[in-house]
Amino acid sequence: MKKVYVTGSRGMLGRALVPIFSEHYEVRGTDLPDADVRVATDIHEDILRFAPDIVIHLASMTDVDGCELDPEQADISNRAGTENVAKACLECDAVMGYVSTGMIYNGLKPYPYIEYDKPDPISVYGRTKFEGELAMRSILKRYYIFNTCWIFGGGAVDKKFVARIIDMARNNPSIRIVDDKLGSPTYTVDLASRILRLIGDGVPFGRYHCVNSGCVSRYEVAGEIIKAAGIEGCEVLPVPSTEFPLPAPRPAMEGMSNYAMSLLGMERMRDWRTALHEYVTSELSSD
Ligand SMILES: NC(=O)c1ccc[n+]([C@@H]2O[C@H](COP(=O)([O-])OP(=O)(O)OC[C@H]3O[C@@H](n4cnc5c(N)ncnc54)[C@H](OP(=O)(O)O)[C@@H]3O)[C@@H](O)[C@H]2O)c1
Repeated sequence: MKKVYVTGSRGMLGRALVPIFSEHYEVRGTDLPDADVRVATDIHEDILRFAPDIVIHLASMTDVDGCELDPEQADISNRAGTENVAKACLECDAVMGYVSTGMIYNGLKPYPYIEYDKPDPISVYGRTKFEGELAMRSILKRYYIFNTCWIFGGGAVDKKFVARIIDMARNNPSIRIVDDKLGSPTYTVDLASRILRLIGDGVPFGRYHCVNSGCVSRYEVAGEIIKAAGIEGCEVLPVPSTEFPLPAPRPAMEGMSNYAMSLLGMERMRDWRTALHEYVTSELSSD
């Protein structure tokens, strides 16, 4: 059985990806504090000891505003951490899959990004994730970059957008949600399954956008979450992002289309609404 090493395995995506990969591979998932990708010698030794065929690199400083406020830590985690993992992959001849972001683009495009668009990040998080991509590409020939967006998942431990909206909607007659930033909401289970498929099929190495179909605002997502959760009596009000100033700039367009997959003739990933409804009704409790 082939072996897969997963960094950042206890995060939102890792919790979905490890069980899905474990059905087909022998998987070793690691996370802080035991395997810190910032510490080159430690992560190197741990990866080499396991001798994987494939490394899926999820570990990252994902707090976008935290990155803006501490660019040095963001650089060490996202760029140097990725470089450390890539060097270990080179030494044990493993294929590397790096999950990156739609925030590598500047967001000025009026419609969703494809893999041939030029990266031009506007935040520290976006820049350091892109520099991680560049570091990996300079070290390895056998790599995948999976750019994704607005991930939801986690079930009982979800503390992110979906869970927060449900909590706010249950406790308020109205909520104000930003409607001038667009993205492609993506379910962890769909993303992990598609990464499994792409790697398993041995598609050509390179960049793959990997998002559920669709491109919408947070305002539209919030409305759909409330509908899926069956919450009544809470109105969602659209507001501009200037109403919630944040340390890190967000691109106006983070939406992507899975153009590289379509060129390979692969079927589309399902619509984000279908995936969201499945997540809310199957993984989140309704009480
Ligand atoms: N969430 C999104 O909407 C989104 C969108 C696009 C791309 N991505 C990318 O997708 C990947 C997975 O995201 P996610 O949402 O699952 O993130 P997450 O929930 O924050 O999980 C990341 C995991 O990595 C761990 N980690 C952080 N720094 C580490 C280090 N130096 N060494 C080892 N492990 C470390 C984190 O531990 P702690 O929790 O203890 O810090 C956490 O368990 C990330 O690479 C992210 O950049 C996410």
